[in-house]
Amino acid sequence: MSSSNSDTRGEEAFSSSVVLEQHAQAAAPESLLATPVQVMQNEITQEIVDVHAAAQGREGAGEFVAISLHDFSPYRSSILRHPTKNPKLVDPETIELFSPAFGQRDVAALEADLTLQSTGEPQGERMTVQGRLLDSWGRPLANQLVEIWQANAAGRYVHQRDQHPAPLDPHFVGAGRVVTDDNGEYKFTTIKPGAYPWKNHVNAWRPAHIHFSVFGSGFTQRLVTQMYFPGDPLFPLDPIYNTIWRQKDRDALIGLYDHDLSVPEFSMGYRFDIVVDGPDATWFEPEEDHA
Ligand SMILES: [Fe+2]
Repeated sequence: MSSSNSDTRGEEAFSSSVVLEQHAQAAAPESLLATPVQVMQNEITQEIVDVHAAAQGREGAGEFVAISLHDFSPYRSSILRHPTKNPKLVDPETIELFSPAFGQRDVAALEADLTLQSTGEPQGERMTVQGRLLDSWGRPLANQLVEIWQANAAGRYVHQRDQHPAPLDPHFVGAGRVVTDDNGEYKFTTIKPGAYPWKNHVNAWRPAHIHFSVFGSGFTQRLVTQMYFPGDPLFPLDPIYNTIWRQKDRDALIGLYDHDLSVPEFSMGYRFDIVVDGPDATWFEPEEDHA
């Protein structure tokens, strides 16, 4: 999929009007992925440098190396979840018979504004994120369901397993969805998420990010990624972001600040285009990593 940004994890799809609550419950935060043996940040950072160098070396020797390294040791739980057996082909049409349905009629306009889902205003920096969903020929993908989920401004998810001592916001759930228009455009109004700790290693913090999911024409085509924010000092420290080993591919996951999208006295604007295949494709996480 797409062209501008990503790295991440996700959760279950949803389809009805109770979707927001379901989504928030299903969106497991990275803090679920506690590692039994906790090492220090400098050890993780050095592992990241070493694995990137090894990937570079393998590519230099003529080996094909994928955009993301699925068995990426600094991201500890990815090793536990990495497949040890060959993939098995399943019939997607059979899956479609039992999957929930979704469509334009199910999606209310209000669901694209995460600041209007409660009786009061959420705390934090109001922002919009806007972009186009494109194929590798630059053609817009219309009528596609785009979902997001995220932590609040303090870095806390509405999830029973996220109990780190940052405040919940009674006016912010952190989930939204929208369907792309005829130009492949989507737009969300939300609150800029905070960074948050997780348990991959000692003092592990995730850079601020928004999780994105994009559906094709069916659930079996679903792709999940993350958008980050420019200039985050946590980038070189984060194992998830660095599962993508080339800098240019990591750069594609960063939402660009766009002053033309900022609204006077109201919100900061970011642009995040998503390309779903071809050499400019946004990197999407493998299905088993959705968390
Ligand atoms: Fe997250």
